[in-house]
Amino acid sequence: MVPRISAISHPQMIPPVFEGKSTKQEYVRSLFDGIASHYDFLNHFLSSGFDILWRKRAIRLLRESHPRLILDVATGTADLAIEAARSLGASVIGIDISNRMLNLGRRKISQKGLVELVSLRPGNAESLEFEDNMFDAVTVAFGVRNFSDVFRGLAEMLRVLKPGGTAVILEFSKPRTFPLRQIYGFYFERILPFLGGVISESRESYDYLPDSVKGFPDDTTLLEFLHSVGYSNTRQYRLTFGIATIYLGTKAITSSNYIS
Ligand SMILES: C[S@@+](CC[C@H](N)C(=O)[O-])C[C@H]1O[C@@H](n2cnc3c(N)ncnc32)[C@H](O)[C@@H]1O
Repeated sequence: MVPRISAISHPQMIPPVFEGKSTKQEYVRSLFDGIASHYDFLNHFLSSGFDILWRKRAIRLLRESHPRLILDVATGTADLAIEAARSLGASVIGIDISNRMLNLGRRKISQKGLVELVSLRPGNAESLEFEDNMFDAVTVAFGVRNFSDVFRGLAEMLRVLKPGGTAVILEFSKPRTFPLRQIYGFYFERILPFLGGVISESRESYDYLPDSVKGFPDDTTLLEFLHSVGYSNTRQYRLTFGIATIYLGTKAITSSNYIS
């Protein structure tokens, strides 16, 4: 299957020039390296623990397909990888561009006695160092909106998926209805950057969060992206009034990619 990346263009996908960094990826890496030690606490605190429930839900959606080998892209401190290993008993490889996030993830994996199942390594979602058709499932939580080239990241995930395998993407989205949209906007744009900035001592990082969500395609558009890149059976589940959304897509089994 050849992903149809070249046929697509979208203005939001052109990375802007990032203050002091030559690429979005460098900017994102240094941002996550910088907040790594506060990341888990702030994640759970600022989402009132909902992030934990959202990850559980995302992994539950894979239960029926019994994946044995999972790639967790943009794994960060490995929460989704740990949840997949624990709840599915699957082997998980997590990759990320931030070494500091990965180091914290490794510590958690060893504390939880999961070193046999979960391994982490440095890696770029937009050029995955894995063979085609390798994984039963590919997951990514709160990572896609940070990619410099979302299409390339989605196409790489599709490439390494086995035919019949499923990609699960968990990402922030925006509530649609009044007054939730307005309340959420106020919290996300005013309160969250303030609290995140004070606790992490990096206001810039927590200004980036609402900006990255605002600049990211809405949920219908993301489904279209998945379809354009070549996923089939694309679908979505809106979570907690639409604050987050899970997207699923499957790699079709065709005569050219059938593996016996
Ligand atoms: C918001 S964190 C999410 C971490 C984790 N998945 C979670 O659920 O908490 C985003 C992560 O994406 C990583 N990231 C951003 N762009 C990436 C890329 N192109 N390749 C791999 N990782 C990337 C960052 O380093 C960061 O650790």
